[in-house]
Amino acid sequence: MEKELIEKLIQTAIKQLEFSYTPYSGFKVGAALLTKDGKIYTGCNIENAAHTPTNCAERTAFFKAVSEGEREFDAICVVGGKDGVLTEYAAPCGVCRQVMMEFCNPKQFRIILATGTEHYDVFSLEDLLPQGFGPGNLA
Ligand code: THU
Repeated sequence: MEKELIEKLIQTAIKQLEFSYTPYSGFKVGAALLTKDGKIYTGCNIENAAHTPTNCAERTAFFKAVSEGEREFDAICVVGGKDGVLTEYAAPCGVCRQVMMEFCNPKQFRIILATGTEHYDVFSLEDLLPQGFGPGNLA
């Protein structure tokens, strides 16, 4: 992926931190999901007083995109930290990795973890979810 596009995704994910709704943990997460045709869908985490309905930033972005008819994705950038301070990578939780597995080719889909536009690493979904179970297993 081009550095310019990666930086745009990082900036977009960082911008989402302001919308993150986290009255319980204070841990703010932002995501920017890139479709194969170049559109970007954003997401933030949305917490809930009953805890389990909490939605992670990554799933917010995926569900927004899928609900708009998108099915093909290239990459997602995720940033996060306590009070929105980006000191280390905020890697996707297991549930979010599984949602990615539903829609993305694990060898091709890229997950960009960043603490800023100058500090990031790019992983494949397969790196983060080896031997994942997906739609292909049921075919
Ligand atoms: N969180 C995310 O948004 N994405 C992840 O993949 C990890 C966790 C959120 C959920 C919750 O609002 C907060 O971070 C602390 O778990």
